[in-house]
Amino acid sequence: MQYAHITGWGKCVPPATLTNDDLATFMETSDEWIKTRTGISERRISHVNTSELATVAAQNALSAAGIDGSEIDLIILATASADTLIPNIASTVQANIGATCGAFDINAACSGFLYGLGLGSSLIKSGQNKKVLVIGAERLSFYLDWSRRETAVLFGDGAGAVVLEVSDQPGGVLGYELNNDPAARDILASGFGTKMDRFDSASLDFFIHLNGQEVFKRAIHGMGGLSTKVLEKCNINKEDVDFVIPHQANERIIDTLIGRMKIPKEKAFVNIAKYGNTSAATIPIAICDALEQGKLKAGQTVLSCAFGAGLTSAAALVKWGERTTPINPPTAELPPCEVTALELIKPAVDFFMNKSK
Ligand code: ACO
Repeated sequence: MQYAHITGWGKCVPPATLTNDDLATFMETSDEWIKTRTGISERRISHVNTSELATVAAQNALSAAGIDGSEIDLIILATASADTLIPNIASTVQANIGATCGAFDINAACSGFLYGLGLGSSLIKSGQNKKVLVIGAERLSFYLDWSRRETAVLFGDGAGAVVLEVSDQPGGVLGYELNNDPAARDILASGFGTKMDRFDSASLDFFIHLNGQEVFKRAIHGMGGLSTKVLEKCNINKEDVDFVIPHQANERIIDTLIGRMKIPKEKAFVNIAKYGNTSAATIPIAICDALEQGKLKAGQTVLSCAFGAGLTSAAALVKWGERTTPINPPTAELPPCEVTALELIKPAVDFFMNKSK
């Protein structure tokens, strides 16, 4: 019997930080509103493409696993904000890390990383692959309509990655569940320019259509249902879950989910205050932060769950291994950013504010 263990982890959060007070300089909002409704204090704005964020996260994950990019035999990159649609950006990361293998992007929105983790673990357990790199990377700030306060305050940029390796030691990814609720496709949707009249720049559609309260309800239902299902499938009681890493879309969603599942709040990891919702990147970034902070410990049973546009949902159960420190420290970094986050988004802010007049 073969098992799929997480042996490496890495993140990349761009340096420019946009605070709630920064947002309040050009839209009608406040630090108090954003913090109390979402738990978000600040988010990162990237000065580079999604594939560059993904590359740095991947390089740090490879260092943590103590392996070279050439040893990877599959790359799965989850993103809803790729900088090129053809070719996929998994191939950009592949070129940057020197891997010779299959490489593809998946779009399951914020659930994308768990979709990739599940798929990668199945391919390892089946004997098809031995070392799989799973990445979640997003630059949603590039697509935001900054005149829409109901969505613009929610998102941030970043990337995280893990290395999955085959092992004959029991543990690793114990099981996963995936679902999609197509009846709710329209409550969280954006054309990101794909629906525009190609010859009419006035019809540019970068608006994320969001029915926040409906997403809120369905997110809890979707993540809660799949979490219960994956626990049953793996024959593990919820009392035996040591640690929970939920998707970071809204702290109130996490609190409600954990409360309904009757899991003690201190078992849930929350870092949304620092990064906002980085979509497919929230869970791998949270894995890195939880390990750095000593909250994710050796041998723990970890439940992770997510929801995203689709509406997709996913849950995975992982038995963490013995190692909680990287074999080699993270050294990969982005090029320096010489401007502030407000300066980075200014052209887009000016464009959308003028458009909305
Ligand atoms: N600043 C100040 N006021 C605001 C802002 C803002 N940024 N945004 C909205 N408001 C106003 C609204 O206009 C409304 O005003 P009104 O009462 O005068 O009409 C009021 O605040 C309340 O708005 P609601 O939409 O009812 O606020 P709610 O408490 O539902 O919070 C939120 C909105 C944060 C979006 C919440 O519904 C939510 O988190 N939903 C689910 C999470 C989500 O969808 N995340 C993004 C999805 S991407 C993903 O992860 C898949």
